[in-house]
Amino acid sequence: MRGHCARLTRTDSSAGWAAQVACPIASSQCHCELSRGSYAQQMNESLPEHVAENRRYWDGMADEWVAPGERAWEQEAAWGEWQIPNTEMPLLADDMHGLRAIELGCGTGYVSAWMQRRGASVYAIDNSAAQLATARRLSELHRLDDIEWVHGNAEQVAQPDGSFDFAISEYGAAIWCEPATWITEAHRLLRPGGELVFLGNHPLAIVCSPVDGSLPVTERLERSYFDLGRLDWRDAVDEPGGIEFNMSISSWMRLFNEIGFDVIEYIEIRAPESATGTPGPVTADWAKRFPSEQVWRLRKR
Ligand SMILES: C[S@@+](CC[C@H](N)C(=O)[O-])C[C@H]1O[C@@H](n2cnc3c(N)ncnc32)[C@H](O)[C@@H]1O
Repeated sequence: MRGHCARLTRTDSSAGWAAQVACPIASSQCHCELSRGSYAQQMNESLPEHVAENRRYWDGMADEWVAPGERAWEQEAAWGEWQIPNTEMPLLADDMHGLRAIELGCGTGYVSAWMQRRGASVYAIDNSAAQLATARRLSELHRLDDIEWVHGNAEQVAQPDGSFDFAISEYGAAIWCEPATWITEAHRLLRPGGELVFLGNHPLAIVCSPVDGSLPVTERLERSYFDLGRLDWRDAVDEPGGIEFNMSISSWMRLFNEIGFDVIEYIEIRAPESATGTPGPVTADWAKRFPSEQVWRLRKR
């Protein structure tokens, strides 16, 4: 794994929505928790390859994320590898009272904590039971009880259509889920006018990532920009494991439009002058010259 969470990736057209087990009840008609629950169980028994691999990978690595998670629960909202404060890059509104929010791939849960502290009622799903154990423990420690922690795949969420006002992923579904599948699911979950915000690796950082998976990211064009999609890191030279996804910027935009999202804002994150060292897959010097991370802010039409 690369730093913050960030292995860098490519689309597997065979792992899309159509390739998954078909829901016995059309998603627009199924609002029954019981049938959704048993459906989720059925899905867990036949997880797509990338979801099964990422579950193994994150369950095995969760111990390393306890201390960073504890720190993030204590602090004010700040985003990504370079910890850009929410005051400078406001991905969360200061006041979220009355909003129902979902975090897709919540990890240790600090983004969910930041949302509940702003007044939102939160549903937080993660594929790793070990990561969720940390999240649950920290929510008890911090006495935040309006977060529902759910073990499952963010590509198939057992919640009714249109049941959320706001959806977010910081290096969760944003990079570990198949784009067409999870963004279609996020669209289904949001009410019309609802917002999806996600943050992950910039495709340029992936293009500059050596094909043998060695680190750090270089200043050479190591792989094809147009052929990004699914990145399988199981045989990587450094930090092997996990399967991620990313795409060219035009492919992201085409996907959003096809699914029914309008782009509110696209941010290419630049590391601040004060940044030093190599906290993740790219050096601070690299990220001061090129965008290492991207943020999409979308609105459901
Ligand atoms: C790096 S954490 C993201 C959480 C946090 N924002 C962070 O940056 O540390 C990545 C999380 O995505 C989760 N994840 C990966 N694939 C997922 C899936 N299909 N559904 C839900 N969560 C998933 C992993 O289990 C892991 O906890």
